[in-house]
Amino acid sequence: MPDFAKVLIIDYGAQYTMLIARRVREAGVYSEILPCSAPDEKIRESGASAVILSGGPDDAGEPGAPTLSPAVLEAGVPVLGICYGMQLLAHALGGGLANSRDREYGPAELSLTAPSPLWKGLPQDAPFTVWMSHGNRVMSPPPGFTVTAGTPNLDLAAMADDKRKIYAVQFHPEVHHTRNGGRILQNFLFEIAGLTPDWSMRSFVERSIAACREAAGRDKVVLGLSGGVDSTVVAALLHRAVGDRLHCIFVDHGLLRLNEGEEVTEMLRGCLPGINLHYVRAGKNFLSALKGVEDPEEKRRIIGRLFIKVFEKEARKLKGVRLLAQGTLYPDVIESYSAKGTVIKSHHNVGGLPEKMRLKLLEPLRELFKDEVRVVGAQLGLPDEVIWRQPFPGPGLAVRILGEVTEDRLEILRAADHIVRRELERAGWARKIWQGFVVLLPLRTVGVMGDARTYEHVAALRVVDSVDAMTAEWTRLPHELLAAISGRVVSEVRGVNRVVYDISSKPPGTIEWE
Ligand code: XMP
Repeated sequence: MPDFAKVLIIDYGAQYTMLIARRVREAGVYSEILPCSAPDEKIRESGASAVILSGGPDDAGEPGAPTLSPAVLEAGVPVLGICYGMQLLAHALGGGLANSRDREYGPAELSLTAPSPLWKGLPQDAPFTVWMSHGNRVMSPPPGFTVTAGTPNLDLAAMADDKRKIYAVQFHPEVHHTRNGGRILQNFLFEIAGLTPDWSMRSFVERSIAACREAAGRDKVVLGLSGGVDSTVVAALLHRAVGDRLHCIFVDHGLLRLNEGEEVTEMLRGCLPGINLHYVRAGKNFLSALKGVEDPEEKRRIIGRLFIKVFEKEARKLKGVRLLAQGTLYPDVIESYSAKGTVIKSHHNVGGLPEKMRLKLLEPLRELFKDEVRVVGAQLGLPDEVIWRQPFPGPGLAVRILGEVTEDRLEILRAADHIVRRELERAGWARKIWQGFVVLLPLRTVGVMGDARTYEHVAALRVVDSVDAMTAEWTRLPHELLAAISGRVVSEVRGVNRVVYDISSKPPGTIEWE
């Protein structure tokens, strides 16, 4: 990882931890999240210039609740405790907790009661709205601390020890509903920790290219390319870093959208001239492996395994490959920390390959959030159509055909999907939504066309809004657009006589149907 001044965020299980990391990065400072279960060594080795303690669902001081690692205070760097983080600091440094189970959730009016560098530039005399979400509270500050803010409900809503540069707030400065929250975090970063905003995508790109070049040395790098934003940005970055020592393998598993394979490779050759691109047509193998298979997880497993096999065979043809590049993003890294072991869907990527082929992993995007990846893509000159491409599942259309995947069903789905994408684009909705696609149901219904009875497939339209695919809301598309889509699908796609619109959110639904 290229070296930037870093803020370490210790995660005590709050739903907002990722947001803290985002806000810090938006302020131009690189941030990393570490789970509170990480060994103390990790904190000591992190070289962080400041630490933020997140909120969390526990009551500090209760048996079994996460405690403050001694490494945090030993580091001698400025610390900001948020919510549970504040209670932890109070508990560890000799303050008193209320032992109350009264929850406070929602807006509160914060009044600043003592000057503090954390409050620089904020309205000193007029209260402003902050967002609270806590169970327990701090009753008395630890020795050396001053109370710096309160709300009508809470005398001690913030405290500070300027000498040791330890600050704590009971509210959540990272959430949108807290007025001046961004300024409070910036005050911590710049006024208190004295950091300089040196994290920008431009500096990231330059440093990352240099770091990849160094990691690769004279070796070849292989990359599984899907045409999605992440792997394409990795390709562009590595193309700059190692030129023709990068080998991209595009496995066409025959489960792609209409003309997708050709479009993706043409686009890549256009914007990354001279790129080594190995196009593997393996559709027949995948279809025969999927013959008779209806179970969604079984489909995913078959496709995942075969994908690795095909990829591996192709990669072995290249001599002297020692590195496998992957488009892993920061949320994936975080998710793998806190995985609770429940598999909802086994998402498919080239997992398992590095050990099998004894390859070293190169993951240049593993510190980035999705929107940061898009900025990097733009900086590397990738066209908008790549940068704003909708996510597409690794197992492709196989998880959008409920029941058995056959060539006929693929053809129907491709035709319907093509119409949906064109109509969404034509109506100006393609960029507003997270994803829009068709699912082919294993059902047939009766209809009438001309004067004849039909007995054909049902196509379900799925269009969702989301920011990170963790949650999603079905998109309220205008009725005219729904009508246009349904009209075209039914009249132009042979084999479909009915279109339904999926109005489920995630949770409890998922975005894909399988
Ligand atoms: P779900 O269906 O879990 O999907 O709500 C969340 C997001 O992930 C995409 N998706 C996948 N992406 N490999 C991928 O790379 C997969 O196996 C896979 N399955 C689902 C899905 O399209 C949505 O954006």
